[in-house]
Amino acid sequence: MSKQQVIICDNLNENLSAAINQCPHDKLFVLTDEHTRRLCLPIIAQFDCMKDATEICIGAEDVNKTLETLATVWKTLGDEGATRHSLLINLGGGMVTDLGGFAASTFKRGIKYINIPTTLLAMVDASVGGKTGINFNGLKNEIGVFSPAEFVLIDTEFLKSLDTYNLLSGYAEMLKHGIISTTEHWAELLNFDMNRIDYPALQTLVAHSVQIKEDIVAQDPFEKGIRKALNLGHTVGHAFESLALETNHPVLHGYAVAWGIVCELYFSHLKVGFPQDKLRQTVRFIKEHYGVMPFDCKQYERLYEFMTHDKKNSAGIINFTLMGEIGDIRINQSANKEEIFEMLDFYREAMG
Ligand code: GLY
Repeated sequence: MSKQQVIICDNLNENLSAAINQCPHDKLFVLTDEHTRRLCLPIIAQFDCMKDATEICIGAEDVNKTLETLATVWKTLGDEGATRHSLLINLGGGMVTDLGGFAASTFKRGIKYINIPTTLLAMVDASVGGKTGINFNGLKNEIGVFSPAEFVLIDTEFLKSLDTYNLLSGYAEMLKHGIISTTEHWAELLNFDMNRIDYPALQTLVAHSVQIKEDIVAQDPFEKGIRKALNLGHTVGHAFESLALETNHPVLHGYAVAWGIVCELYFSHLKVGFPQDKLRQTVRFIKEHYGVMPFDCKQYERLYEFMTHDKKNSAGIINFTLMGEIGDIRINQSANKEEIFEMLDFYREAMG
């Protein structure tokens, strides 16, 4: 997989113009959702480099990350004269960059695309690393391809208009990057004041976080080994997210990941010796900022069933990424049903 260029922008107009110039194309398209069309498109639409861009707008939120939405993007590209040499700019959160990246990677067997993530989650995770896709058959990101953007342009100015829920959602992925990297970075993240955000300091943290992800993706772009580190918190997190959706109380992805981290660090402590004090400090931070996902023991079976659908599983064994210490990544760790139920007991006790 070719490497995408990730740029922390100091001048989005110049950075975007330079990126577009490096992607020769016959027609330019920009994909937004109904939120970013209103809030973010006006910022880039005034740039000279965007004056000939054709807009495509889709419904916002994860519920629209569907085959139907994808088909409308393919159809609009076709109807508006896109060719194999056209260029798509995805302006939005993870839903837009995932779906737009997949649309670009499959339209006429693949056209180039640039991501401009507008949420913290998309900046530090979704838009970087080449994973694209849609939800299907009730399962998250069930259909997709690895296909990197040409450029990812990260402008943290967009974060100033992001609500606290969405900021915290992205911050959970940053916390994950802290846990898989160094004690210093993990501690820095736990000490950052999320109630009074220092934006220049946040930009430095974002740049560091993206670098951690890029380093891992560069070693293992197709997730055969070490990239599974980025799944910390996600085996249980995706199950929480699916249960929340099914019971009509959808939660933001990062919240589910934060709660998943609580569970998977508990397993890490139990199975590979993750230190108890660091487990306690991380759980405290998550409880304080993310609250708790309510569920009872009657829902354990359903959560377990969701975990059995995880893409990381093989031969029917549920696979986890665990941590022996901060930065000490242990991929391909399994757990049986009884252990998983016990972990859910721990979660309810620690977070309740
Ligand atoms: N979101 C995890 C990854 O990109 O591998």
